[in-house]
Amino acid sequence: MQVLAFISGKGGVGKTTLAVNVAVALAQRKQRVLLIDLDPQNAQRLHLGMNPDEIAGLTREGISHSSIFDSPFGIQFIPFGRISEAELEEFEAELKKHPSWVADGINSLTTDSFDFVILDTPPGPTVYLQQALEAANRALVVVLADAASYATLPKITSLVSQYTAERTDFAGINLLINQMPIHNKLGHQVRTALYTNYADQLVPVAIHKDPRVSQALGFERPVLQYEPGCKASLDIQSVADWLLDSMEQ
Ligand SMILES: Nc1ncnc2c1ncn2[C@@H]1O[C@H](COP(=O)(O)OP(=O)(O)OP(=O)(O)O)[C@@H](O)[C@H]1O
Ligand SMILES: [Mg+2]
Repeated sequence: MQVLAFISGKGGVGKTTLAVNVAVALAQRKQRVLLIDLDPQNAQRLHLGMNPDEIAGLTREGISHSSIFDSPFGIQFIPFGRISEAELEEFEAELKKHPSWVADGINSLTTDSFDFVILDTPPGPTVYLQQALEAANRALVVVLADAASYATLPKITSLVSQYTAERTDFAGINLLINQMPIHNKLGHQVRTALYTNYADQLVPVAIHKDPRVSQALGFERPVLQYEPGCKASLDIQSVADWLLDSMEQ
C-alpha cells in the first residue's frame, strides 16, 4: 500500500482538486483507492457530490472501515467531518499529543484493503501536515508556475525533511505544477527554473489551467468524470500513469 500526501506551502494551488482526480484516475487503472480529507475546510466532499447534511467523518469516527463512504466515482472516501470550533480545538490538541494518529488509523485498516491511500491537507505548516508526513510514503508538493509558489518551496521542502527525518519508508517529495498557463512567458520561466533546480523531483507532466476544472466542481464531480477528454483530465491521467510507472522502478 502506498500513502500519498498532497501538500503545499501556499493555499489555493489545487491540492484538493488534484487529490480527488488523481485518486479517480488511479481507480480507473484498477487500483483500490481510499481518499482521506485531512483538512478542516471539509471541502473534498464537494467534489464527490456528498449529501451536504452529512456530518460524519474522521473527526467523529476516526480512520476505520466503518468511517469509509463509497463514492460513485470508483473510490472510497473518508471526509474530515463537520464539527464545531470547540470540537476542532479539542481534535487538534489530540493530534498534537499523538503525532501518529493518522498513521495508526491507516495501519489499522485491514492489510491489503487498498493499493493507495491519498491524503489531502491544508496549506503550510499545520498539525495536519505533520500527521500526513508521519503516514505518507511520498509527498506531492503542488505548485503554481508563479513566483509566489516558487518562493514557498524551500520552506515546505525543509519542513518535509524535518518531519520525515526518522522515516526509512519515505520515498521523498515530487513537485507537481498545476494551473500551467498555455501562453504566459513568466509561467514558462518559472517552470524552467523548477526544472533547473528540482530536476529529480519535478513530475514530468504539468496540469494545464483549464476552466473545466472549476465547472466540474460546480457540478460536484471530479473533472475526470465531467469532461474526461479536456486538457486537465488528460494531464491528470498522465500523472496517474507516471505514479504507477515510478512505483515499478
Ligand atoms: N488545473 C486547474 N485549472 C483551473 N482551475 C483550477 C485547476 N486546479 C484547481 N483549480 C481551481 O483552483 C481553486 C483552488 O483549488 P483547490 O481548492 O483544489 O486548491 P487547494 O490547494 O486545495 O486550496 P486550499 O489550500 O484552500 O486547500 C478551485 O476553484 C479550483 O477549481
Ligand atoms: Mg484544499
